[in-house]
Order: sequence, then C-alpha cells, then structure tokens
Amino acid sequence: MSDNSDLEFVFVARVDDVPAGKNRCFEVEGRGVLLCAFHSGMKAVENICPHEKISLEGGRLRGAGKIVCPHHGSNFDVDDDGKALGAPAVLPITVFPVRVEDGNVYVQLVTAKRGPDNPFAIPGVKLNF
Ligand code: FES
Repeated sequence: MSDNSDLEFVFVARVDDVPAGKNRCFEVEGRGVLLCAFHSGMKAVENICPHEKISLEGGRLRGAGKIVCPHHGSNFDVDDDGKALGAPAVLPITVFPVRVEDGNVYVQLVTAKRGPDNPFAIPGVKLNF
C-alpha cells in the first residue's frame, strides 16, 4: 500500500466555481476531480463510479458527506474513505484530501487505497461487474 501523505496539493478551481450543494468535475493532471460543495465544506473525489467506471458528476449530494451516483443510485460516504453504502456498487470511490486557501481549492491526487477489498485500485486487475 502506498503512502500518499507527502504529495503536494495542486490547484483545482475557485470555491466560487462550484455552487453550494452542487458538484462539478475538473481535469487535473489527467484525472477527473469532482469537487463537491457540501454545505459543511468543499470535498473532492475521483470522478469515477466504481460500478460501471463512469462519471459521478451531477450526482446528488446528501447530508454532510454523501454522494449518490446519478446512474444507478449507489451512495458513497465521502467522509469514510469513499465506501459504498449500497448496491449496485460495492467498491469505494477515491477521496482526495482538500485544502481551501484564499478561495482556491487544492487537492492531493492520491491513488486509491489498495487491498483485497479494493482490487479496483490495483493496476492491471480487470474486474467483471
Ligand atoms: S454507474 Fe454508479 S451505481 Fe452504476
């Protein structure tokens, strides 16, 4: 398992670029960063639903830290390592650490945690959904 703790934070967007209660995807260094403007604060996840490996953009934000996939309705807990809270997705989404300074949003482009319960994060492993 890799340690991402010393990755630098990279600029994604201005806080104002994402209306409160909405989300919006930005491409940063070749990755889709979905900024989620929860009323409790800005959070960021990789813009890939692990169910069909398609975009989460436009999914509804719930409570202080949950996002609902707009395609088949799986919920993910952004506050708890992105874990899936219901079918059809079973694997977690990748959550990026966020820092907000002077109205700018920065994230650490961490890789997903690897492990037997998340083979999605292991390069070269093909999953059959
Ligand atoms: S693509 Fe997200 S739950 Fe199916």
